Amino acid sequence: MDNKLSPSILAADFKILGEQINKVDKAGASYLHIDVMDGVFVPSISFGLPVISSIRSATDRIFDVHLMIVDPIRYIGDFVDAGADSITFHLEAAKDPMAVIDSIHKYGKKAGISIKPGTEADALLPYLDKVDMILIMTVEPGFGGQPFIEESYDKIRTLRKLLTERGLNTDIEVDGGITFDNVRKVMDAGANVIVTGSTIFRGDAGENTREMLRLMESFS
Ligand code: DX5
Ligand code: ZN
Repeated sequence: MDNKLSPSILAADFKILGEQINKVDKAGASYLHIDVMDGVFVPSISFGLPVISSIRSATDRIFDVHLMIVDPIRYIGDFVDAGADSITFHLEAAKDPMAVIDSIHKYGKKAGISIKPGTEADALLPYLDKVDMILIMTVEPGFGGQPFIEESYDKIRTLRKLLTERGLNTDIEVDGGITFDNVRKVMDAGANVIVTGSTIFRGDAGENTREMLRLMESFS
């Protein structure tokens, strides 16, 4: 299983966004996590398509777009045009999750499905063999800098078990409250794609990326 680090630019300094992306890219992060919030599915509004198009030329790294928006199917084509390589939507936000997965795949992109802390792992059963990635929210979606919800370890373990039982080695991404202190524990539970916002962008983004990758290395 491939381990990946996906720094979330939500926590970056937007007046020097290009420089910050450059730092995490040079330091070896293979994904860039891009949080899109609509003020409806989650209380806050982050940024949208023009920002993504504008940073596309800053890096060749994978754009890991996390849609926290209602009715995601309406916008799949737009996010593909803006430069998304992988699009993750919320199970709770989609009327027909299978149609969203199909739409993302029709564009030749990776499809991810996400669940909020209050949604049970079992809710994903119909989609386990259909998606490229499962994103387990380890905080309530909407804001960076929140503490990791401890119950998430069991959910990650349960999901990894459900996948393994089906002969699937689908990526499990975790997002929210991941720090230098708990990253190995979430990986031990079965996660292999790690999102970190504040841990990377508070302080020197390059140094923090290298430290996070060093901690993740022993699991590869
Ligand atoms: C929260 C976002 C996260 C957020 C994580 O809704 O999906 O990606 O940026 O931030 P940290 O790592 O600070 O918890
Ligand atoms: Zn996210």
